[in-house]
Amino acid sequence: MPTITVNGQSIEAQSGMSLLQACLEKGIFIPNLCYLKAMTEPPASCRLCFVEIEGQPDPVAACTITVADGLVVSTDTSAVRQLQRTALQLLLSVHDIDCKNCPANKQCALQDLAKFLKVPLKNKPTETYLREPAIDETHPHLTYYPNRCILCGKCIYVCQTRHGQSSLSFAKRGFDTVISFYGALEIDQQACDDCQQCAQVCPVGALVMKSG
Ligand code: SF4
Ligand code: SF4
Ligand code: FES
Repeated sequence: MPTITVNGQSIEAQSGMSLLQACLEKGIFIPNLCYLKAMTEPPASCRLCFVEIEGQPDPVAACTITVADGLVVSTDTSAVRQLQRTALQLLLSVHDIDCKNCPANKQCALQDLAKFLKVPLKNKPTETYLREPAIDETHPHLTYYPNRCILCGKCIYVCQTRHGQSSLSFAKRGFDTVISFYGALEIDQQACDDCQQCAQVCPVGALVMKSG
């Protein structure tokens, strides 16, 4: 079992485990949005889980590092926090912050992270980029809100894992990237209604069951 040092504390981790998972399991919180424990190859797209590792010149994403004996890690340096705040602010700049009218209110990963990183959960309208259309109702069972989506990809991952193919995929590019239901009707729609895992895994209020 590899032993690593995190913020001066010695911890044992399972071989093959990611550094992010090892820390989370020991109660050492590292901000993260795009990671699920079952993922063998995390997308590392949210850029929130930065840590510093002794001997490495720049902070690294903890979800991409496999624990190795002797790693010395800092999760809460000012450089790490600054990178995390910048990543969160970037996400918020394309987010329609309207918590009172959102089904995820008070159980939202963005709200939790904003509180943890002390980033105000508000936007100047002139500095916010919102996508059009604001709602996608084309799926028979799901409603998608692009301007709440943080593009973590968890919905795609759970659909693919559960059904062998995903009825959700990324579409478009850059700031216009959205989740698309293109091809979704080829999947058994009753199975889709019975499953609902994509809506459950969504860490914000971007994917909502129509029946819910
Ligand atoms: S997704 Fe979270 S931060 Fe965004 S409006 Fe809903 S509750 Fe607020
Ligand atoms: S819909 Fe939800 S789970 Fe899917 S990518 Fe967007 S935020 Fe992530
Ligand atoms: S959790 Fe590591 S980059 Fe998103």
